Parts: sequence; C-alpha cells; structure tokens
Amino acid sequence: MQIFSQIKDIKTAIGLLKNENSTIGFVPTMGALHKGHISLIDKAKSENDYVVCSIFVNPVQFNNKEDFDKYPIQNDVDIELLKKNRCDVLFIPSVKEVYPKAPNENFSFGQLEKVMEGAFRPGHFNGVAIVVKKLFEIINSDKAYFGEKDFQQLMIIQALVKQLNLDIEIVPCPIIREADGLAMSSRNVRLTEHQRAIAPQIYALLKNCVEHSAIASVAEVKAEFVAKISAIPEFKLDYFEIADENNFQSISSWEDSKSPRAFAAIFIDNVRLIDNMKIFCNFAKS
Ligand code: PAF
Repeated sequence: MQIFSQIKDIKTAIGLLKNENSTIGFVPTMGALHKGHISLIDKAKSENDYVVCSIFVNPVQFNNKEDFDKYPIQNDVDIELLKKNRCDVLFIPSVKEVYPKAPNENFSFGQLEKVMEGAFRPGHFNGVAIVVKKLFEIINSDKAYFGEKDFQQLMIIQALVKQLNLDIEIVPCPIIREADGLAMSSRNVRLTEHQRAIAPQIYALLKNCVEHSAIASVAEVKAEFVAKISAIPEFKLDYFEIADENNFQSISSWEDSKSPRAFAAIFIDNVRLIDNMKIFCNFAKS
C-alpha cells in the first residue's frame, strides 16, 4: 500500500494510475476503521482496478468540540487493517495540508440539511461538503463509496455531486451491523461495557417500528419508539423521525411516502449514536 500525506504526491501517484486507464474507487474515512469501512473497501475493490482510502478527522464538520477531541484515532492499527484488506493507496493528510487557510465555502442543500442531523448539528453538513469536495478534487476517482448508516450524509453528497456537476459516481453501501444488531460506528469504541450491552436496543426498537408500521399509524409508531427509548435511563433521545428517504419530508401518514425511513439519534451518556431503517410499509403508495 502506498501512503501519502501531501496533496501533490498523491495527485502524482493517482495521475500515474489514471495513465494506465485504470479505474479508481475512493473510500473517504475519518479512521478508527471497522467492518463497515472494510465492506466499503471490498465493494470498491470489486468494482475498480484500484482502491484509494483517506483518513482525515475533519475538524470543520464537528459542531461539538468534545466529540472532536474524543474522536478515536488509531492510525497505526488502521494502516495495518488497510494493508490486510488490500487498499492500494492511503491519503492521510494533516489539517494544515487540507486547510492551509480556514475554509469559508457555504453550501446549500435545502430541506436535506434542515432536518435531523442538519438541524441538530448546525454546520455539520457544510463541513462534510467542504472536505468531500476537496477530497474528490484531490483523488479524482471514478466512484466513491458511502455507508447508509449516515444516510442523510449520503443524500447530501449525492446533492453536492449534482450541484457541482462532478464526474463521479456515488455508490451507497448497506449498514453493517454487529451480531446483536448495533450499527457499526467508530464511536462504538467509546462505549463502556454496560453501554455497549444496551446500545443494540436502538436497532431492536427500529426493527420494532418497521414491524409495527403494518398495524399502527405513523404517530403511534413514533410515540412507541420515543416512549421505549425514554424508559431506558442511560439513553437520551436527540431525535426520532419518520421521513421520506428521498426528500426528508417528515410524514404523518404512511400514504405520504413511497419510501419511508425511520431515523434516530441517541446519546448514551456523551456518545452520540445514529441509526436508520427503511420501512417496508404495506400502506405506502404503490
Ligand atoms: O462519514 C465520514 O466518515 C465523514 O463524514 C467523511 C465522509 C469521511 C467526511 O469527513
């Protein structure tokens, strides 16, 4: 695996790969890699000649300083994992390399950024858009791979590509879960043993929503989720929403959307976890 920390060096290396007419799949990450990231690498590997990963904990997408300060960093472990999983090129720049000057771009994504993560983490998606645009310019890949755990981020990035007419295909990849259902996330390592033991309740309750969508109204499904989460003292609900997965309009009846999806953000102490699940609703418009 070739490892670069300077933009000019990785651009040269990628130029050489492109000269061979090779295709490149890009997996951007913030490190603390887990099986979810590896699934993105596997998918990229299966669809391209080369896989490029980046590890960069992007300061401008954190609206909460403590979350940034406590974000897990394990570069040596990550590098070994990437080598083992046949990543070809790693870009691991410093903050100064990516942002020689403080970035000041302002993106606008309408409804997509007004709700859920956008509303609860002000500035977060602007920060994601700034770094993803920059990384796309540097890596110049044919495709880029994003997990559906950050479903709203995936939609924002698709909107970014459209807005800027970028010549890149965004490939959505399914959520990878632990055996007990907990969605894989770099933040999971911050959970204590007890918190880790109760965290799969988020998955269980989302599954419950999907099951109950066949027999209960949207309001009932929402109320049940909120009540059950509130009954677990270690959990603090940030938001729970059932919205159309394409435009993020909140729905009040199953008939309002062909593709409803449930979205949750929950604090366990100071660790914030998000998860989502598609609702296969019998009553959704056909
Ligand atoms: O999903 C992430 O890990 C980050 O938001 C991303 C896309 C790498 C941008 O920093």
